[in-house]
Amino acid sequence: MTHSVPGVIAREKGAPVEVATILVPEPGPGEALVRIQACGVCHTDLHYREGGIGDDFPYFLGHEAAGVVEAVGDDVTDVAPGDFVVLNWRAVCGQCRACRRGRPWYCFSTHNAKQKMTLEDGTPLSAALGIGAFAGKTLVAAGQCTKVNPAARPEVAGLLGCGVMAGLGAALNTGQVGRGDSVAVIGCGGVGDAAVMGARLAGAARIIAVDVDDRKLEWARQCGATDVVNSRSGDPVERIRELTGGFGADVVIEAVGRPETYQQAFYARDLAGTVVLVGVPTPDMRLDLPLLDVFGRGGALKSSWYGDCLPSRDFPMLIDLHLDGRLPLERFVSETLPLDDVEKAFGKMERGEVLRSVVVF
Ligand SMILES: NC(=O)c1ccc[n+]([C@@H]2O[C@H](COP(=O)([O-])OP(=O)(O)OC[C@H]3O[C@@H](n4cnc5c(N)ncnc54)[C@H](O)[C@@H]3O)[C@@H](O)[C@H]2O)c1
Ligand SMILES: [Zn+2]
Ligand SMILES: [Zn+2]
Repeated sequence: MTHSVPGVIAREKGAPVEVATILVPEPGPGEALVRIQACGVCHTDLHYREGGIGDDFPYFLGHEAAGVVEAVGDDVTDVAPGDFVVLNWRAVCGQCRACRRGRPWYCFSTHNAKQKMTLEDGTPLSAALGIGAFAGKTLVAAGQCTKVNPAARPEVAGLLGCGVMAGLGAALNTGQVGRGDSVAVIGCGGVGDAAVMGARLAGAARIIAVDVDDRKLEWARQCGATDVVNSRSGDPVERIRELTGGFGADVVIEAVGRPETYQQAFYARDLAGTVVLVGVPTPDMRLDLPLLDVFGRGGALKSSWYGDCLPSRDFPMLIDLHLDGRLPLERFVSETLPLDDVEKAFGKMERGEVLRSVVVF
């Protein structure tokens, strides 16, 4: 049986997204059909609409989602109908060179559903990050479903599926923030604020949030920033140095994805410190740094793909911390909205009015 559900697609580059009827097949081997309960609106969905990620239109958008497994393929044993799951875009293969070396969070051959979801006329859809969850139902690889405690609210839990995990992981996994560290986070959207929250969870002593928007800085404070810097009203590198005894922060997390903010991160870090790039740049961007400074300042320049997370390890643990009251993930949910309003949510995101808008079903 094929399921027919309304879902949000980007039909062509730059055009507003629209709600269309999507045909979702029954799960085959290795696949799961999930009834979506909530799906966050991420900057990456907007990148897809603008053609910044690829040219495989039409795209089926939405990828920060939680829901309930409705059916699974014959051979699927890890999840079963009725399980409450957060969807992930890192269903590790176990076979690639990263997995074989015991580093599955770098897996180079992650699984997605094999069957395509389509429009009513049979046009195959490209699912955003191999998910496609702005719809009542979606088809994914079973490994993309991570079981978590069903006591968590879906609109909160789903956010772990992308941006919030990327930010938490940039601090906890990639940046390896430790107790007593000083941390600066440049760009305080959902990803940056999650990095702030991750740094706090790790016991950082000083957490400096940098943004160009005072409203964002206020939210960053609520997420655990000890100091805030508006980089429109002064040089953020100077301010971060002043706030860290003149030295710079131990870990600086760039959550914008631009050369100028990367450069700020590079120079705002103490000698032998760590820079983590979690913001995603566009193909035209270039970086110009004196190679002597790259050498002379030492330390580590790292990129963080999806917060170097391992969903099966990290999602249940983070949801349990949330339910224990130690990780206030509900702060990321600025509003909930119906499926028809994804385009409006992009506008709010661009105007900086929200951390996350979440579509609920
Ligand atoms: N690495 C990953 O796996 C991963 C996963 C999800 C998202 N991302 C990326 O992370 C980035 C942030 O995502 P988001 O959802 O938080 O986006 P967002 O648009 O909500 O937040 C971006 C923030 O940066 C601020 N900003 C813009 N220019 C700035 C500047 N010059 N200096 C300081 N702050 C500035 C904005 O005011 C805003 O608060 C995006 O590039 C997104 O694609 C990466
Ligand atoms: Zn692998
Ligand atoms: Zn995302």
